[in-house]
Amino acid sequence: MSYHIAVIPGDGIGPEVIRETVRVLDCVSQKFGFTLNYTQYLAGGCAIDATGKPLPDETLEGALASDAVLLGAVGGEKWDTLPSDMRPEKALLGLRAGLGLFANLRPAVLFEQLAAACPLKPELTAGGLDILVVRELTGGIYFGKKERGENYAYDTMSYTEDEVRRIAHVAMKAAMGRSRKVTSVDKANILESSRLWRQVVTEVAEEYPEVTLSHMYVDNAAMQLVRNPKQFDVIVTENMFGDILSDEAAMITGSIGMLPSASLGEGTRGMYEPVHGSAPDIAGQGIANPLATILSAAMMLRYSLGQEDAAKAVEAAVDAALFGGARTKDIALEGEAVLSTAEMGDCVLAALEGLA
Ligand code: IPM
Ligand code: MG
Repeated sequence: MSYHIAVIPGDGIGPEVIRETVRVLDCVSQKFGFTLNYTQYLAGGCAIDATGKPLPDETLEGALASDAVLLGAVGGEKWDTLPSDMRPEKALLGLRAGLGLFANLRPAVLFEQLAAACPLKPELTAGGLDILVVRELTGGIYFGKKERGENYAYDTMSYTEDEVRRIAHVAMKAAMGRSRKVTSVDKANILESSRLWRQVVTEVAEEYPEVTLSHMYVDNAAMQLVRNPKQFDVIVTENMFGDILSDEAAMITGSIGMLPSASLGEGTRGMYEPVHGSAPDIAGQGIANPLATILSAAMMLRYSLGQEDAAKAVEAAVDAALFGGARTKDIALEGEAVLSTAEMGDCVLAALEGLA
């Protein structure tokens, strides 16, 4: 088997974490007997510098022609003052919309080995945490009508039934493979779009009698995540609520440097990127944690390439590296030895060699 991967390193620490991830992918593909052909593309700030556009046509076309897209991160201070259509973030939105990636899966898992890095009291996370945030990614206020006038501005949160239905199915199916519990998060006491959301999610849930569905207002969900995070299994929510809650869920697992994500559409093509951003403050120093991107690549092997065994091997290698004490700066406790980005890559590779 051979697959085409569009690789978009992007800005800041993006190229550094992608470099380690590609090394891991090369190793695992060789072990499991498939071939990955990579083509690199520009997106974000580096694309603005090189071509004047955050998302060059060539990049979107390359992504559309690939089996999967692996992305580092985009953005940085240098481009922060550009008008909204020209900002690096526009590249992400353009890729999500252009590839029809309406479902964003953000697993927030508290690794046992990193329990001490969790900012919550230990009794709140005893036995570990495993939450899957399913975020709607191509609708809502991110993509609704917006306007800036001389002395006013507005953004619109709008959803169609179909948009809600398809993301609800994704959440229900994910729950069937887990503990069969879905919390749908909305603001149905205030927002009309949330009332539609709640109604459609409830209808979809009837097709999954084994799944227990509950509804929660987003303000309460934000509170419950730090008060009693173990009550959650799958959280399904609209685009902006999901953006906010996934950062919160990431933090309670100890480090945003650990969390992967998958963005999926109707077919198998997906885009895989770490939840963290381009971290310009540490870019170029070789100290970023590559694990979120490596774990994103594992999701790519699973969801887009159907290489479940290879995905599991990568996840097991990350686990083993952490058990062996491998720590980048973001996850090291005081007094623990700190590895560089490349050394962390080495540890994962060594674990991978040792596993198979
Ligand atoms: C994310 C990011 C993006 C978002 C930004 C960079 C456009 O925060 O993927 O969570 O808001 O979706
Ligand atoms: Mg975000």
